[in-house]
Amino acid sequence: MSAFVWLAALFAAYCVWRGLQQNHRRLSLPPGPKGLPIIGNLKDMTLTGLWFPAQKWAQQFGDLVYLNVFGQGLLFVNSYEAAVDLLEKRGAIYSDKPKMVMAGELCGCENMVRHHFTASPGSDRFADADIGLTPYGDRLRRQRKLMLQALGANRIHSYHPLLEIQTHNLLQGILESPDQSQSIIRRYTGGLTLLIVYGYRVLSNTDRLLEMADEGLELLSNRIAAAGIVWIVDLFPPLKHLPLWFPGAQFKRDAAVWKGKMEALVNEPYDFTKQQMRQGTGVDCYVSMLLDDAALESKDQSVDNQRDFDIRWTANSLYAASFDTTISTLWHFFYEMIQHPEILAKAQKEIDAVVGTSRLPTFSDRPNMPYINAIVLETLRISSPVPLGLPRRITEDNVYKNMFIPKGTLVFGNNYNMVRDPKVYPNPDVFNPERFLEEVDEQTAKMRDVRNYVFGFGRRRCPGLFMIDSSLWIAIASMIAAFDIGKAVDEFGNTIEPEVIYDNSVFTTPKPFKYDIRPRSAQAVSVIRSAKGLSD
Ligand code: HEM
Repeated sequence: MSAFVWLAALFAAYCVWRGLQQNHRRLSLPPGPKGLPIIGNLKDMTLTGLWFPAQKWAQQFGDLVYLNVFGQGLLFVNSYEAAVDLLEKRGAIYSDKPKMVMAGELCGCENMVRHHFTASPGSDRFADADIGLTPYGDRLRRQRKLMLQALGANRIHSYHPLLEIQTHNLLQGILESPDQSQSIIRRYTGGLTLLIVYGYRVLSNTDRLLEMADEGLELLSNRIAAAGIVWIVDLFPPLKHLPLWFPGAQFKRDAAVWKGKMEALVNEPYDFTKQQMRQGTGVDCYVSMLLDDAALESKDQSVDNQRDFDIRWTANSLYAASFDTTISTLWHFFYEMIQHPEILAKAQKEIDAVVGTSRLPTFSDRPNMPYINAIVLETLRISSPVPLGLPRRITEDNVYKNMFIPKGTLVFGNNYNMVRDPKVYPNPDVFNPERFLEEVDEQTAKMRDVRNYVFGFGRRRCPGLFMIDSSLWIAIASMIAAFDIGKAVDEFGNTIEPEVIYDNSVFTTPKPFKYDIRPRSAQAVSVIRSAKGLSD
């Protein structure tokens, strides 16, 4: 081909490309509330419960809603169809995460697949966002493969004995200190993850690793990535090169200290598991299973550095990822049981018929208890623990149904709105487990499967979904079997109405509320006390 033909072909390609660019510019952005000059929609943002206005925008503007804060585009994807089209089918460009210099690079959290980050308007980290930090690419693909390998449907039964034992400890804790049940649930949630991930047993409230993990989460949520804090280095990344001693570089000195703590949190529990494995005293857990798999696959039974790194960091990511989500779901469960004594009574009847009253439920009972299952699903639906998903960052300009979505936009899968679609879930604001027991055609059953929504979409869908499905089921079934739950009464004999009040914009974790929880019978007390616990 002559040089002239090449040049002509290149010129034609350039014209097509320019045409597309101009077309993009002619296309309008998705609709959304009108913003102000410079600050954009800053005033529409809320630091808590952002899913409430997001639902209103969805009703007003439709499947896609676009806002901007100081020029940073935010796209809310409000329908399942649009979420599949964008977050799944176009996953190659919709799976990246916002970049954070302070939290990621300086505090050493960039290797976490996900951690609890609260963030602020004006930066990529806006409005109290919980963000998986690992950008989309080879490392993320490798790490997700590991998580799915160890937490996938075909492995999950290996954790069932541990889950049962940890749940017995939960019941025993509540039995001994019913008025402390909410802090006991927090401890149970932290202990559960340490057990499942590292095979580490938390035996006291003052356990060192538990305290360390709590401190790590606290540091992340309230210091490194607290709502309302914009790190100057996130706005001007070159500042990361300032020397530590430089006046005004306090953020770097803080980051150095916090990085040390975060590294200890990553390394100490991991090294504990490895040591237990060497001594032959460990239990099957996430880390040990993956290290065993890696040793089997390698020629000389050693685990290469990359695999070691990936297992270490994914293990750490699981702690924060499961903490707020589990707590959110369990507290909503309590709230709904208090509000609906008839549902609790019906569930107890099912348990008594299947399990009896002389033992606690086990996973082998699950297939025979459809009503408890329906309660778990309805609790997941009504609580929608991560209501707006975790923000993604689109890596290329994109067009959807004649709307232009610019590169760099942060994208939120609004599952809160999806699980409140009255066409799929009639009377969506009512807690009604029966909706999952209705005989419906295959298509409707598929649309009603709440797991399609609340765990997110596509390449960054929650890898913990089988784990939480099991841990929630056993916790909920056991608490229903063992306790009566109702409204608390104050010192003057007045009933206290529980109230769900949210205090962040990422998880629907309610603030603690009061309720009454007591064993169902003297027999329940002895069954709980004699159940095998962590220290047995
Ligand atoms: C009711 C409980 C839970 C809910 C509703 C939930 C929901 C979600 C959602 C919506 C996402 C974002 C998905 C997306 O971007 O599309 C996510 C990510 C994630 N979840 Fe969960 N989750 C729960 C429990 C757990 C548990 C127990 C674990 C660990 C054992 C876990 C591990 C993760 C991890 C590691 C990610 C980040 C994945 C990535 O960025 O690629 N989650 N989860």
